[in-house]
Amino acid sequence: MHSQILCKSTAAAVAARRMRNILGAVLGRDGWTWRSHEVKLLSTSSGDTVTIGEISYQLKTPRSPELVPVKHISDSIPQTVAQHLRWIMQKDLLGQDVFLIGPPGPLRRSIAMQYLELTRREVEYVALSRDTTETDLKQRREIRAGTAFYIDQCAVRAATEGRILVLEGLEKAERNVLPVLNNLLENREMQLEDGRFLMSAERYDKLLQDHTKEELDAWKIVRVSEDFRVIALGLPVPKYKGNPLDPPLRSRFQARDMFYLPFKDQLELLYTAGPNVAAERVSQLLSLATTLCSQESSTLGLPDFPMDNLPPALQILNVFPMLSSQQLVQRLYPYNSILGKEGRTAVEGVLSRFELLDGRHQPAPSDVLSVSSSRDVEHHADVTLRVADKDVTFQVPAGTKELRPPHSSPAFISTPSHAQLLAEMMQSHMVKDMCLIGPKGCGKSVIAREFAEMLGYSIEPVMLYQFVTCDVMKEGSAPRQLNQLGERRSRQTAHSGERSIFLTEDTSLNRSPLI
Ligand SMILES: Nc1ncnc2c1ncn2[C@@H]1O[C@H](COP(=O)(O)OP(=O)(O)OP(=O)(O)O)[C@@H](O)[C@H]1O
Ligand SMILES: [Mg+2]
Repeated sequence: MHSQILCKSTAAAVAARRMRNILGAVLGRDGWTWRSHEVKLLSTSSGDTVTIGEISYQLKTPRSPELVPVKHISDSIPQTVAQHLRWIMQKDLLGQDVFLIGPPGPLRRSIAMQYLELTRREVEYVALSRDTTETDLKQRREIRAGTAFYIDQCAVRAATEGRILVLEGLEKAERNVLPVLNNLLENREMQLEDGRFLMSAERYDKLLQDHTKEELDAWKIVRVSEDFRVIALGLPVPKYKGNPLDPPLRSRFQARDMFYLPFKDQLELLYTAGPNVAAERVSQLLSLATTLCSQESSTLGLPDFPMDNLPPALQILNVFPMLSSQQLVQRLYPYNSILGKEGRTAVEGVLSRFELLDGRHQPAPSDVLSVSSSRDVEHHADVTLRVADKDVTFQVPAGTKELRPPHSSPAFISTPSHAQLLAEMMQSHMVKDMCLIGPKGCGKSVIAREFAEMLGYSIEPVMLYQFVTCDVMKEGSAPRQLNQLGERRSRQTAHSGERSIFLTEDTSLNRSPLI
């Protein structure tokens, strides 16, 4: 408010700005001049409009409503997210493509999808990988009934239909793949393998003044929609592993840093996820996570804490408030298994700083007592666990086969440590997928099988080797199993081990489900 009165270049204005910077940190973002942006949907006679702060976007009716993302927007959008959405909207209105950069986790994708949902735009989504090739983005040649056809892929479909192309994992693409998009990004033009030529809406419309549509069709010129945009998502390289973007491509995007949500917003999210958990405990856990994601921790060589797994962890704490925080942290961040001695000491130092070293005093769930079909919800099971002489019953998803009571398999010997692990897996199953890490032959497969049989799941084992490419995962040599794996992903345990390169390589730890 003072800056409005003071002239920008005076010493007083400089002092006011400094004060604002200092006080901003104390008062929080809303405390001083950070304006809050409200996201509103207005219906007027000329159509629906979305406004974020003072920026407004006129909605169009999507031609393929099934491609418009849904259920990404929450009821109360945190201010930081509203600011990101507003920025994307500004760039969108200017016709610019955006690149959202940030640490591993679903936040960037979620914000992109929220934007598309808000503005009712159709999406063409592609997760880039080392195996993505030019043809995956442009056109693929397919043979049907003995004849070869060119089938448009995501980038071409998005350009011609006026959709938003979401390119996830820009840092994973091989160097020569993305430059095929250079011209499409810069001039909205692209030569296709089938002889067609994509041309920007502006140039096409100009040509249309002198020529007929039939002529342009005969010349195989296709109009790129003026609504076509690209939203790229990626990790900052370096810091994370990946291919740095080549400068010409980078310059075609407007980039925005999307770091984790601020402490206050995260805290609110966590309070909602675990209303029964003591507020102090929530803030201790969040402080730990924030510390482990800080620059200092990464200088020490500690991997990032998977911040986005905190809400599901809080959901578990909500049902089991007696659980030890330390053990819960172990599940999200298995520092004992993945770090050396120095790293472990460092993490324990942080744990003790936030009074989270309670593993020895607090009980762990010791056994699964019973598993029975849930009466109220289909394909769910009621599971009872014993935690420190108390029995706790909760609901988890279950398979379609008949459930099998615990301790009834002749092939599985329930040792105390395996019984405890099974009980912990039941807890994690309530909220997320999981990954079992352990030395060779320690019983991971046996436990996964026992877990699946208890809950009536069928198992689809997939051996992962280094040469298993993403294409194989999607449609290659074992399509049936892998498709089923995809469908059941949320209902099955991921099998990990020394051979499972996919789960142990690169950033998977940051995305790893609960353990
Ligand atoms: N609780 C148990 N009850 C019965 N058998 C067990 C148990 N734990 C381990 N075993 C036996 O130990 C052997 C190794 O177990 P398993 O194959 O599950 O290990 P793994 O961790 O999956 O090994 P890998 O890393 O090689 O995949 C199996 O032959 C299994 O029968
Ligand atoms: Mg195994």
